[in-house]
Amino acid sequence: MELLAANWKMNKTPKETKEYLEKFLGLVEGIKDVEILVCPPFTSLCVAKEMLEGSNVKLGAQNCYHEQKGAFTGEVSLDMLKELGVSYVIVGHSERRWIFGETDELINKKVIACLEKDIRPILCVGEKIEEREAGMTLKVIESQLKLALSGLDDVSNRIDIAYEPVWAIGSGNPATPEDAQLVHRFIKDLLGDVRVLYGGSVNPQNAKDFLSMPDVDGLLVGTASLDPSSFAQIVKASCRDQG
Ligand code: 13P
Repeated sequence: MELLAANWKMNKTPKETKEYLEKFLGLVEGIKDVEILVCPPFTSLCVAKEMLEGSNVKLGAQNCYHEQKGAFTGEVSLDMLKELGVSYVIVGHSERRWIFGETDELINKKVIACLEKDIRPILCVGEKIEEREAGMTLKVIESQLKLALSGLDDVSNRIDIAYEPVWAIGSGNPATPEDAQLVHRFIKDLLGDVRVLYGGSVNPQNAKDFLSMPDVDGLLVGTASLDPSSFAQIVKASCRDQG
């Protein structure tokens, strides 16, 4: 099943989350043939859990820490997230890597911790513009995947991968669907039949073009997910009969 995921990043207070979901749930009501996921900030998870109960929209978090508890000021554990109804966690987003200095080693620990707690990680990989220009895209993707999944056996049915080229994120300059397809195929050749989402300047206009590619199995949407109508349009682009 395709996965349409919203990454709100550092946007929306609990009150704004409530307003968003009141509208959004009505717009996507009855859609069953795709998985719909919203990943609000930690501070909105509680209100989101209450609102999503019994709905067709799942709840995800944007980050986690791999230790179970203890002296890790400012961090949030998987047990804490689980109690709030979180079933997915975005791991290794490029903003975590490049703004907050997350290493492949740390990302590996987070992926392992998610799997141990039965929370599905959405592992993000993607090249920077200079790596792309140097023809290094596939090498970078391969290295990020190998390091993030190090020590793990076949994970293809327990994890999702998001291909998010760093230069395409928030830039209004998405990859072409054909370029995404090529990288997605490469990821599946490496990992087996894993679900691979595309992220980076997805909007209601281009969503269908990405989803029409044979190996694009969903989308991870930032900016265009912040408006409920716009994200609902993207979700509907994935529904064969409603697009
Ligand atoms: P944009 O959709 O704003 O480009 O962000 C993509 C992203 O980083 C999703 O995780």
